[in-house]
Amino acid sequence: MIYPIFLYGDPVLRKKCDMIYRDELDVKTLANDMFETMMKADGIGLAAPQIGISKQIFVVDGSSLEDEEMASFKKVFINPILNHEQGELWEFEEGCLSIPNVRGGVNRKSTIEITFYDENWIKRTETFKGMQARIIQHEYDHIQGRLFVDYLSSLKRKLIKNKLSEINKGNTDVSYEVKRPS
Ligand code: NI
Repeated sequence: MIYPIFLYGDPVLRKKCDMIYRDELDVKTLANDMFETMMKADGIGLAAPQIGISKQIFVVDGSSLEDEEMASFKKVFINPILNHEQGELWEFEEGCLSIPNVRGGVNRKSTIEITFYDENWIKRTETFKGMQARIIQHEYDHIQGRLFVDYLSSLKRKLIKNKLSEINKGNTDVSYEVKRPS
């Protein structure tokens, strides 16, 4: 099932998401729906609040990218805890399906260790680096109610202010199904 993607300005994107209890919902079905929704929108990561569900789950899938390391990067993260971030800060232009047609440079540390449950409720602790780490950091932020635009310099934020307020009003040009902020 493909969900509409909630746009910047919707309060669901600013809430800290709730933990998922094991029997509360079918995480496999939800994760598959999230993969499908993300694929349709050409994304590489999607967090539940972006489809209006305030729960601690996100998915990543880099298989659409040419990069060899990203091609096998397809995962589900449930109730994740970011144990630590380390290494050099590096900047990269990020974007977000909830903030269409806006990009901006975000500094993030290069290496992370994260503990999470996968779609089979197996608890895992793994280390990720570089672009994989960055995608996880971006999606992890979503379930804390944080967005990449929060990290932009005040100058850059001034430059995109109008774009953000247009998205907030529901005026944006996107190729995928969205839920405009009411
Ligand atoms: Ni995003």
